[in-house]
Amino acid sequence: MKARDYTDQCSVPRQSATLCYRLSPTADSAAGHGGVIIKRMENRNLSLIDRLVGSLDNALKTVTEQYASSTRPNPSADVPDSQLADGERRHAAGLMRINHAGEVAAQALYQGHAALARDPGIAQHMRDAAVEERDHLLWCEERLQELGAGPSRLSPFWYAGAFAIGAASSALGDRWSLGFVAETERQVADHLKDHLDRLPAKDARSRAIVRQMREEEAAHCMEAEQKGAAELPRVVRKMMQMSAQVMKRSAYWL
Ligand SMILES: [Fe+2]
Ligand SMILES: [Fe+2]
Repeated sequence: MKARDYTDQCSVPRQSATLCYRLSPTADSAAGHGGVIIKRMENRNLSLIDRLVGSLDNALKTVTEQYASSTRPNPSADVPDSQLADGERRHAAGLMRINHAGEVAAQALYQGHAALARDPGIAQHMRDAAVEERDHLLWCEERLQELGAGPSRLSPFWYAGAFAIGAASSALGDRWSLGFVAETERQVADHLKDHLDRLPAKDARSRAIVRQMREEEAAHCMEAEQKGAAELPRVVRKMMQMSAQVMKRSAYWL
């Protein structure tokens, strides 16, 4: 199945436009990289209580690492591991812990958006995106274990803060909610590019995971734009960058 090229439609990853693509769902298993399976769950009109219960369930599973397996193979599965020096291993673990913390926050953000979205289609889109982000979460978790490290001890804090931000932006309306998603994904794609520059060159397994995540975050950004995302004010974008910095600096160590 041929890959569908979204590059010319995506204004999102301004520094990495070539990342804007997605493989069709049926191409994913054959391609084995760069693809995004969108799990099209049955589109139901869930009540607010249903949504909040679902969000609580997701929160508990995320912060207690109860999600058993990803929906797709880990991109590093066929990548040979290499011997890292102690310093390199600690550094790689710190960076992958940041990425794991980011995925904890992504779970919360999408659940927060889904909980208060007004359009059932947008709410379902947010839940579908959370399923994809869950794969990222599990891939990072697996790599952390391989590196002899664990997730951030502040995961409940990252989840609670991100859920509140997601719900608050959803309360402003779906266009703003999508705008928040688009900007978040844009910043995450840029952040992952930075991590590809900073990860040890011989840590091919971490790099394979980060590379695929970056491609998919760029696709998430583009999807949000296509669904009508509003462009956030500059001051909001700046505040988002500053709060992400706090998480990055903390999660590297804790
Ligand atoms: Fe992600
Ligand atoms: Fe994403």
